[in-house]
Amino acid sequence: MDTKPPRGTRDFFPDDMRLRTWLFGHFREVARQYGFEEYDAPVVETEDLYIRKAGEEITGQLYNFADKKGRRLALRPEMTPSLARMILAKGGALKLPVKWFSIPQCWRYERMTRGRKREHYQWNMDVFGVPGVAAEVELLAAIVTFLTRLGLSSADVGIKISSRKVLQGVLVDRLGVPEDKFAPVCVLVDKLEKLPREAIEKDLAELGLDGSLVDRIIETLSIRDLDALTEALGPEHEAVTDLMTLFTLAEAYGIADWLVLDASVVRGLAYYTGTVFEAFDRGATLRAICGGGRYDRLLSTFGGKDVPACGFGFGDVVIAELLKDKGLVPELTSTCDDIVFAFSEDLRGAAQQVAMKLRSAGRSVDLVLQKKKMKWAYTHADARGARRLVLIAPSEWEQGLVRIKDLATGGQADVAFDTL
Ligand code: HAM
Repeated sequence: MDTKPPRGTRDFFPDDMRLRTWLFGHFREVARQYGFEEYDAPVVETEDLYIRKAGEEITGQLYNFADKKGRRLALRPEMTPSLARMILAKGGALKLPVKWFSIPQCWRYERMTRGRKREHYQWNMDVFGVPGVAAEVELLAAIVTFLTRLGLSSADVGIKISSRKVLQGVLVDRLGVPEDKFAPVCVLVDKLEKLPREAIEKDLAELGLDGSLVDRIIETLSIRDLDALTEALGPEHEAVTDLMTLFTLAEAYGIADWLVLDASVVRGLAYYTGTVFEAFDRGATLRAICGGGRYDRLLSTFGGKDVPACGFGFGDVVIAELLKDKGLVPELTSTCDDIVFAFSEDLRGAAQQVAMKLRSAGRSVDLVLQKKKMKWAYTHADARGARRLVLIAPSEWEQGLVRIKDLATGGQADVAFDTL
């Protein structure tokens, strides 16, 4: 039997699991600090939930299948459609705004590169019911709080910010690209760096658009500051006022040095309608650390009434790579409080009583279950990083005593079972 898990997926041995638990602990703690509530959804959803005809990479990467009744299902590639479905399911009963977070495992049949796997865990924080950029800045602040907790600074990580309204201002408002073609154009623009120009022109032509738009698109994407943006769209344009407000609010949060305006960020998912952002490694060796944006019209694509929404997804893979590169992965050792060891088999019952008493007092107890020598117990206690070795020896036990060895100090004491 091949002992490797399927390509692109991971086993989490206890060493790996410790790191994952540590990372998720920070995800959860930051979400708590920002007042978000946790939710979850099934990892298998109906395939329909992900069928969007905008040419997104994600739809081509679906792990989809028919179940025994022939229903078309898929492993979720992202959480946002499930969240939208849940919001729709509650309808008017939900008190807005909703601030929810989740840490789902997501599945994408990706071409594997550093930082990209076929399954990953993705911390999601989303806000429903807030139309203005105050929601975006709150989410960006949460990302910065998280990165800071891990020991990263704005010299290590930056967050590129733009808005789909920038490209919309040029393509739809100025150049007359039809509104319904805009989302597929954005998906295409996201591939600009990966595909040759001819391929982009061909795809534009398939959308019924002129290939020469590429030049205007490239020109727009090169905008890197608010002055250039204002010059391109005029001071009254919504993209300009939104981004100006966003950067002003970011100053108030004290996170402005993490943010950079970069119009080349459009993101590859069709549903974004406004602000879009991506965190990146300033050392430029890794793929996007996290990404998100505003998606005010996703609910109507599912036949519901729209509610303004924005959020982000933050994967566990790239950040782990970055922390390793920077030497910021903490030493997370296996640990327990007590190793309980019986000198002989006839004391096993006594050892069980002792272990249960310590456990009911809240201690983490590793009870030695096999017949072993004392020397083994010491080595084992060391390997487990235990604080104490609790020995059940015949003469002490007869007097109702348990011998406790403090492994850090080397000290020992005989303690009455009753007062243990
Ligand atoms: P996304 O940009 O497709 O957005 O993914 C968000 C993050 O998930 C990425 O920046 C990366 O950290 C991680 N990620 C994605 N694919 C992989 C992969 N194959 N291997 C490892 N990590 C990966 C979304 O999924 C949106 N639904 C996020 C969102 C939430 N937007 C609004 N709310």
